[in-house]
Amino acid sequence: MRVDWDVDQVEKGGFEHFMLKEIHEQPLTLRKTMLDRINKENDVVFEGLDLTPADFDKIYIIGCGTAYHAGLIGKNVIEKLTRIPVEVDIASEFRYRDPIVNDKSLVIVVSQSGETADTLAALQESHRRGAKVLAITNVPSSTIARDADYVVPTMAGPEIAVASTKAYTAQLITFYLLGIYLAQEKGTLDDLYRVSLVQALKELPMQVENILDDAYELKLFAQSIKNKKNLFFIGRGLDFAVALEGSLKLKEISYIHSEAYAAGELKHGSLALVEEGTPIIALITQQDLYEKTVSNIKEVKARGADVMGITLEVNVDLFNVVDEVCFIPKTNALFTPILSVVPLQLISYYTSLALGNDIDKPRNLAKSVTVE
Ligand code: G6P
Repeated sequence: MRVDWDVDQVEKGGFEHFMLKEIHEQPLTLRKTMLDRINKENDVVFEGLDLTPADFDKIYIIGCGTAYHAGLIGKNVIEKLTRIPVEVDIASEFRYRDPIVNDKSLVIVVSQSGETADTLAALQESHRRGAKVLAITNVPSSTIARDADYVVPTMAGPEIAVASTKAYTAQLITFYLLGIYLAQEKGTLDDLYRVSLVQALKELPMQVENILDDAYELKLFAQSIKNKKNLFFIGRGLDFAVALEGSLKLKEISYIHSEAYAAGELKHGSLALVEEGTPIIALITQQDLYEKTVSNIKEVKARGADVMGITLEVNVDLFNVVDEVCFIPKTNALFTPILSVVPLQLISYYTSLALGNDIDKPRNLAKSVTVE
């Protein structure tokens, strides 16, 4: 008997592309990244991480591309939970801007590969200025991991597709754990709140599974945008940070031009680009900003935009404002990015699939950029 099989297909575990496989691996990689980080008392633990918030008065988060976008979420979370000021920089900007970094700074470098030249140079620059550096990386044997003072590995496993998906959500969960840990150490976290945060973290993998099980509407939406020339992502706060990542994903693999805007900033210029039929993806998961974002959505609807809203299941009334809605399960407001990015990953994937692009190896891009 002769068995024909395609080795590539076996590695893809039955998925058509590595990117789709990696999107579907996220429930597992989130669980793996959380493993051993939460004890029976619902404390977050980082065994061997000898890091005391009293030793630094400022945190810098540095990365490129998707890792930088994860850093934007990290800033929000760490500042909210610890009240330590955090700055986020693109690595290629940080190293040339004479940053005010010193021995009272903690620099967190984020890199899936651990080999990105600009991120490595930012790490070295931070060391020259006396800062301690913590690396969040998916490759513990990488150069960045070796050179850092502390390493927190993400457990996403090998990521093959150029467009990062599971590494991003693993970076996010790492920032959540780190934020809670630093707040515990600093004593800024009320016990009951800590327990509720940790419970919500544990639910995320299952909630991602639920989103993945229901991708039909997202495939239809991908068909509707595949021939568009421009697309906008809007959101406020954490939703804006996720919008940036959604826009990057779409650009990377579909080659459709897209921009992410802070929803409240639209009227200061970009609204001029919105016309009849302009597709807009509006992220609206932060309940305290819900009405504000709804009023921004009304502004673009009034100019003829077609709006897809991504919101929490409780916000059924969003149907009255937008053309289509994608619901995500309810979680703590800090954690919605892990859920809301999943539909954006799927929209990018299915749009690129409909266009017949080389999804895993998009033109002009490399998985790891080891030159400046
Ligand atoms: C490249 C990849 C991106 C990635 C960025 C940073 O541009 O195409 O997907 O986000 O590098 O990579 P790193 O390995 O440092 O996270």
